[in-house]
Amino acid sequence: MKKYKSKPLGGGDMSEAETFFAVAHKKKIQTRLCKVLNLEIPIFQAPMAGAVTPQLISAVANKGGLGMVPLSNLPIEVCEKLIDDTLALSHQPIGVNLILEWDQTERLELSLKKGIKIIWFFWGDPSSFIDKIHAADGKVILTVGSAEEAKHAVDAGVDVIVAQGWEAGGHVWGHVATFPLVPAVVDAVAGRVPVVAAGGIADGRGLAAALALGAEGVVLGTRLLSSHEAGIHEKYKHRLLEAKETDTVYTDIFEKGWPHSYSRVLRNSTYDQWLTSGQAQSGQRPGEHDIVAYYPSGQSVERYSRNLPASMMEGNLEALAHYAGQSVGLVKNRMSVPEILDEVVRDAIKCMRTCQTLLI
Ligand SMILES: Cc1cc2nc3c(=O)[nH]c(=O)nc-3n(C[C@H](O)[C@H](O)[C@H](O)COP(=O)(O)O)c2cc1C
Repeated sequence: MKKYKSKPLGGGDMSEAETFFAVAHKKKIQTRLCKVLNLEIPIFQAPMAGAVTPQLISAVANKGGLGMVPLSNLPIEVCEKLIDDTLALSHQPIGVNLILEWDQTERLELSLKKGIKIIWFFWGDPSSFIDKIHAADGKVILTVGSAEEAKHAVDAGVDVIVAQGWEAGGHVWGHVATFPLVPAVVDAVAGRVPVVAAGGIADGRGLAAALALGAEGVVLGTRLLSSHEAGIHEKYKHRLLEAKETDTVYTDIFEKGWPHSYSRVLRNSTYDQWLTSGQAQSGQRPGEHDIVAYYPSGQSVERYSRNLPASMMEGNLEALAHYAGQSVGLVKNRMSVPEILDEVVRDAIKCMRTCQTLLI
């Protein structure tokens, strides 16, 4: 039998022989998740409110991943435009993300009316909405932070579980890291539904590792935030490319507009000022009512607001919440969404092949 030499996992370019092999064999990664949601690749775009554009969402969907329209607490007419603009760019499956911090009855009605069949809930218990979505032939996804929550959700009828680790960028629901969380959740749901790993996954090595943990897909957040299609300010993208894995903090200071919420952000002057001045509670934080930036419409943004630096904003953008996960240390180049997805899948396949060579 032919013997293969073991090589380090990931990293480096493919050798000529590996490239030839990958191209010649046209390997794909297919999991049950792909069948359940009709996807070509087991990758979800993180529903990043304020950062994703119809161009970004449709680019993911057109590559066969799951594109997600985050509706947050946006006015209903803005939600409708976002959904319409996205559906105009893709005929592939697209979902919406509903955050249970706010009443989502009207946004769910709108989404189902628009023919959206995939509804992803975050920040709470979606039980009261499940029958309605199933009656419309839809699927329900829920982000969880523990195995117990996952079991409860599957008992209630949730179709896909997203296990979000604490290293994730943006708002973080639980306190457990992705590596221990994913297998615990996989065990808890006992094969009844697919589990998707979120948090800390930015490349093919992350996808391969998540599959090894028993997940059937992954969520890409921070990595896609750096893409050409993301609707964030150039300065924010620049910070993502420069940042190391040690540059994020988990904090509740950026909670204006979403009280008592914890998120992971890049450490910045607002955080440092709050830290060195005694870590005051909400209402007594330094510079609490400073206006630090403006949207092109003239709308102002205060320090400690949950608003991120959007593409056309002006002002002291550095002081705003720059959401990013610990995977930011793996984000090195500006690329388009299709390039990122191709690279992640190709490198995951390469990584899985390398793992096979470790078997003797
Ligand atoms: C800028 C940003 C905004 C986010 N907004 C949302 C949101 O609106 N709804 C949601 O369910 N998750 C949101 N998240 C969390 C993501 O869904 C996901 O859990 C996270 O990005 C995964 O970790 P990663 O950033 O390491 O890939 C956001 C994340 C980021 C980075």
